[in-house]
Amino acid sequence: MSATPDAAGRGDSPHLIDRHGRRARDLRVSLTDRCNLRCTYCMPADGLDWQPAGELLTDDELVRVITVAVQRLGIEEIRFTGGEPLLRKGLAGILARVGALRPRPELSLTTNGIGFARRADEFVAAGLDRINISLDSLDADTFERITRRRRLPDVLAALEAAATAGLTPVKINVVLLRGVNDHEAPDLLRFALDHGYQLRFIEQMPLDAGHIWSRERMVTADEIQQRLSARFDLTPDPGARLGEPAELFRVDGGPATVGIIASVTRPFCGDCDRTRLTADGQIRTCLFSRAETDLRAILRGGGPADRIDEDIARLWRATTWGKLPGHGIDDPSFLQPDRPMSAIGG
Ligand code: 5AD
Ligand code: SF4
Repeated sequence: MSATPDAAGRGDSPHLIDRHGRRARDLRVSLTDRCNLRCTYCMPADGLDWQPAGELLTDDELVRVITVAVQRLGIEEIRFTGGEPLLRKGLAGILARVGALRPRPELSLTTNGIGFARRADEFVAAGLDRINISLDSLDADTFERITRRRRLPDVLAALEAAATAGLTPVKINVVLLRGVNDHEAPDLLRFALDHGYQLRFIEQMPLDAGHIWSRERMVTADEIQQRLSARFDLTPDPGARLGEPAELFRVDGGPATVGIIASVTRPFCGDCDRTRLTADGQIRTCLFSRAETDLRAILRGGGPADRIDEDIARLWRATTWGKLPGHGIDDPSFLQPDRPMSAIGG
């Protein structure tokens, strides 16, 4: 679905501001919709109909859009996601080119970690600053039950390699599924504390291609807190920064913390500072948007370079101005977006 943005009343700020007083500084870029895992909360066992190569932005197109975002729109952080961003062949080159921009944005990666260990130094040399690695279980069988692949050792190796390469604090994302891995919450936290990793639990969101999510079955932030409190003393950490969706808790008095991202039960839309670019060149103001704005057509439409860049900037500003105040997951009228998370970027 495409939207015609209406920028009436917006003023002339160069930044990505919206009518609810927020400003986007953090751009999430999906580099591919493909993945080498098949997490049940994300993809069906057979995968999805991948986007055809010709519909994806090329490396040059991507870098160009990101350059506009950084230099004309005030974006300060670029997070590369997927699908699985390590499957994008040009990743190191893209990192290096984006890292060479001035002002230099912060560069981070959200990945399942498979294949990262071998290439950690290469990515750090290219400019990678931070990493989030998904790890839902420390038990090889449970890991396989969730991801449908027997790859736990690869992920553990990625965590170690990231720490050795200096990407500290290494962050771990966990999604808990009732009756599958929810009992592991304290063990995962123990593991993270022992290794100096920063753990963050993410409430399962209705973004899966198979529509298996249900409000009744999802493990809520309250429950996660309860499960952790059986073994650890959690105190809210007031130092959590604005725009950071994780609520942070000090563990056993600190300094270690654990995060809970309660996207569903305690939405943080009011502080949202994100904007998104899909691998095929669509802007989305939210993971849950039902509308997209097409930048690829402008990129491929021809014309003078500066006019293309200015058109992209103008359209992005207008689209952001119309960003909705919230995702409304808890609304009875909530509709899941047409595209799954793997095609939008996490
Ligand atoms: N709900 C919550 N988190 C999800 N992720 C993927 N799909 C979902 C979902 N439906 C997580 C991944 C990864 C990050 C990109 O988002 O586990 O950590
Ligand atoms: Fe791949 Fe991430 Fe989806 Fe798992 S959640 S299948 S790792 S894109």
